[in-house]
Amino acid sequence: MTLIDSLSTLSFTPFESRWISPSNIAFVKYWGKKGQQLPANPSLSMTLKECVTESKVSFLPSDNLEVSLFLEGSRQDSFAFKIKTYLQNLGFDRLKVHIATKNTFPHGAGIASSASGLSAFALCLTDYLYHLKGKTEDQEFMQSASHLARLASGSACRSVYGGFNVWGESKISHDLYTSQLSLIHSDFFHLQDTVLVIDEKEKDVSSTQGHAKMGEHFFAEARFIQARNNFDKCLRALASGDIESLGQVLESEALSLHAMMLTSPEAFTLLRPKTLTAIEMIWDFRRQGKLPLYFTLDAGPNLHLIYPESYKNKIYPFIQHELAPLAVNVIYDERGEGPIRC
Ligand code: DP6
Repeated sequence: MTLIDSLSTLSFTPFESRWISPSNIAFVKYWGKKGQQLPANPSLSMTLKECVTESKVSFLPSDNLEVSLFLEGSRQDSFAFKIKTYLQNLGFDRLKVHIATKNTFPHGAGIASSASGLSAFALCLTDYLYHLKGKTEDQEFMQSASHLARLASGSACRSVYGGFNVWGESKISHDLYTSQLSLIHSDFFHLQDTVLVIDEKEKDVSSTQGHAKMGEHFFAEARFIQARNNFDKCLRALASGDIESLGQVLESEALSLHAMMLTSPEAFTLLRPKTLTAIEMIWDFRRQGKLPLYFTLDAGPNLHLIYPESYKNKIYPFIQHELAPLAVNVIYDERGEGPIRC
């Protein structure tokens, strides 16, 4: 029984909820879907600390379903439409929803705001459903929020907990919602993620379109096997503190994700020349200095630079003097603790 079962028996009353929810970066990528918004392979992510969305959502009874959304005070009809369709698909009808939202990272900074934004919304919605059902927050609250977030955007379901999280069928994780990993080596408690924003433009191909292209992809099955192997390797590396092995997974996953785009039936790429220049510089830096600096990529041209906190002082000068000139923006982030109710 999920929170959205028996919606028709509820009578909607006014309510307001407010959450701050973070973005997350996938170490093992979700790329390809099955069924109703389920992942084709298990994925693993780190929740961020600084890149967050704050949302205040008010719910009011109404004759039909109405959604309005303001991002930093300016009306956003396309986002509002996305949320309306989502609520409609869940079975909501007589409800007026007003969302006021803001991000800590600049709009269009090339950081996906869907994971933080849609997880913040799902948390507010979970609050509302708990209120309507007369439930007080219990151990299942976050699992329900993750479930609801997943139906809005897959990667959003991994933002409801801090630290490192897994989603998708495996021995230790589920398809329907995220679970938090507990076995993490202390070296990774403050793992760094510095985002090198190479290009802030809106992507030509959305992640949702990208997932669909895996449906007929010649290499799909091989990719899903690779992701499962990397998932197991990543779990071992996180538990044992093996940064080299973790780094191999990060880069293998980033490059395979973009290789899938380049080799899909209708080929496309989201990489930019400066992305490749930065990658070569990182490889050179590692060869010369033997310092543990690795990269990963989302579905976009921007690099997430991953390194242990203990190497910060040695790695910062390279980022600031060599890599930053390739970027339009640099955001210093690290492992975060998860959403906060406010
Ligand atoms: C490359 O979660 O944005 O960031 O479920 O269609 O909303 P939808 O897709 P989305 O896909 C994220 C893809 C990725 C990898 C990842 O975060 O695991």
